[in-house]
Amino acid sequence: MLAAATNNLLGEEIRRVQSEIDSVFDAILPIPDDTSARLVEAMRYAAIGGGKRVRPLLVCSTAALFGVSRDAALRAGAAIEAVHVYSLIHDDLPCMDNDDLRHGKPTLHKAYDEATAVLAGDALHALAFEILADDATSEDPFTRSELILTLGQASGMSGMAGGQMMDMVADEKGVVYDLQAITKLQQLKTGALLAAAVEMGAILGKVPPQARAHLRAYARDIGLAFQIADDLLDVEGDIEKAGKALRKDNEQGKQTFVTLMGVDQARDQARALVDQAVLRLASYGSEADILRALARFIVERDR
Ligand code: IPE
Ligand code: IPE
Ligand code: MG
Ligand code: MG
Ligand code: MG
Repeated sequence: MLAAATNNLLGEEIRRVQSEIDSVFDAILPIPDDTSARLVEAMRYAAIGGGKRVRPLLVCSTAALFGVSRDAALRAGAAIEAVHVYSLIHDDLPCMDNDDLRHGKPTLHKAYDEATAVLAGDALHALAFEILADDATSEDPFTRSELILTLGQASGMSGMAGGQMMDMVADEKGVVYDLQAITKLQQLKTGALLAAAVEMGAILGKVPPQARAHLRAYARDIGLAFQIADDLLDVEGDIEKAGKALRKDNEQGKQTFVTLMGVDQARDQARALVDQAVLRLASYGSEADILRALARFIVERDR
């Protein structure tokens, strides 16, 4: 009963944040009446109306623990989502995973062209840092600079881009990874941005770094579980629900927990990580229920 109520609450929260993030992008990305119109149209095509918005929900739910205003949390959430959307645009390009379907519609390079997709990704990447540097996100310059540092570290060579490089090296050069290396790959390519989402919520809440340890541990666990769930979906998921091509990882030589340990053990591993993540929140009461439900959703999701 309690679990069902929490799940309904999570469903409502996901729909709420989806519509709020769409509104933020809609407001930030008016189509200009000049030669950059095509670029902004392409950014809107990728950024508005798709995606679960898990990263903004993590920012908002963490920020809410510390009484941060919804507007500030949504701006930080939109910034991290802009990086995520850019990473998907580039991930789908022919030189990377070569995918034709994303969020149930043609990928950006299919709907437009490759050059536009590269540039829309570049512009969304820059937009993320513009949003964070703006005093509408926080009046406190130290908070803004900490947000920028955190998102920069999670996006670059020691985060998402570094992990994507490990992923591509395994595809192309047939490098074989052990469990430790796959854990690192997944923590970088996916875990880093999810962890940054939680961290950014805590930064907005002015939680001192030493008091963020249990939130960091929660974020690390769900970050790894999230990519294991994505890799399980690739093997077992329904394309209609996922809105993207599946059954490709094996054929493209991807190395994941699923290729290393098989479906059953990978699922057990993801569930164990989620149990551990929930334990990390033991010092919070019902105010952290959304974070707990989100951890469960991450491994049980079908999209
Ligand atoms: C997909 O991320 C790519 C990974 C990092 C695993 P999401 O599953 O969060 O993508 P959307 O935005 O909700 O489609
Ligand atoms: C993508 O991982 C991770 C990033 C975009 C950083 P995948 O390549 O597995 O994501 P999907 O399956 O295409 O969404
Ligand atoms: Mg990929
Ligand atoms: Mg991909
Ligand atoms: Mg995948």
